[in-house]
Amino acid sequence: MDFKVELKKKASYIEGVLKEYMPEEVGYQQTVLKAMNYSLGAGGKRLRPILVLETCKLVGGDEEEAISFAVAIEMIHTYSLIHDDLPALDNDDLRRGRATSHVVFGEAMAILAGDALLNYAFDIMLKGSIGRENPEKYLKAIYAISKNAGIYGMIGGQVVDVESENKKIDKDKLDYIHKNKTAAMMVGCMSAGALVGGADEEQLSCIVEYAEKIGLAFQIVDDILDIVGDQEKLGKNIGSDIYNNKSTYPSLLGLEKSREIAKELIVDAKKCLDGKFENKEFLDGLADYIISRDH
Ligand code: IPE
Ligand code: IPE
Ligand code: MG
Ligand code: MG
Ligand code: MG
Repeated sequence: MDFKVELKKKASYIEGVLKEYMPEEVGYQQTVLKAMNYSLGAGGKRLRPILVLETCKLVGGDEEEAISFAVAIEMIHTYSLIHDDLPALDNDDLRRGRATSHVVFGEAMAILAGDALLNYAFDIMLKGSIGRENPEKYLKAIYAISKNAGIYGMIGGQVVDVESENKKIDKDKLDYIHKNKTAAMMVGCMSAGALVGGADEEQLSCIVEYAEKIGLAFQIVDDILDIVGDQEKLGKNIGSDIYNNKSTYPSLLGLEKSREIAKELIVDAKKCLDGKFENKEFLDGLADYIISRDH
């Protein structure tokens, strides 16, 4: 099967699962519930939940045990996008082909919808773990997601991203931004999938290395698409980084060098899995897709 078709199929499976977990829009607080579902239901590539399930399968685990983690990571990712688009951060008005949350619901509700999605993600992971055999592996998976989404992960990266606007920073700091704001979430979701699937230490460390590399390449390509991408296909504002005078790979190293580094990262990412796993075709394909994607 063509890789893009396979990816679409997996994403549409995730769509169905997400629907089952979305909160019902009833009660006095229904505005925030509508805002949560508005952003969650807007599509998106669903890469992170796919990575949770695929990593669980890669190490021989049962996908069903990882479902709540797949849903939770997409909720955390969606919250990070709602907050990333706020006027105080990137100030964007288009996301996943729709007006951004703060444009539709106002800033206060967009902030609360982000908070709510983050909190609900933990509800779902904990509820999905209570009463399971071997609670330790579920605790470790929750910790992996929590840690990588927080101040030593995504939030840490976002902080330095915002503080680096209108500044010239060195490559070390830029790598800190990209590794944390983006690659950490890939590390979190793949670690969770691996842990729930019963990975051993060695497998886990190969998977973390792969996740870091595809995550860094993913953000480099995101920076490139912000310049040369098609807004219609991307479903989000292009030119946002230049407008905000962000520190990005292309702004520091140029488009060509950035493309080259992304390609090298993908070659290295695939090497991390080489000879260590059977059935790694999907993750090889995903690595290639990350640098060939147009949205
Ligand atoms: C966008 O992530 C934010 C970045 C980390 C670059 P995606 O490109 O995965 O966004 P969706 O989920 O497909 O909308
Ligand atoms: C943000 O990076 C990554 C997040 C943690 C949300 P960007 O600001 O480049 O993401 P886009 O381009 O708005 O999706
Ligand atoms: Mg941003
Ligand atoms: Mg942004
Ligand atoms: Mg971007």
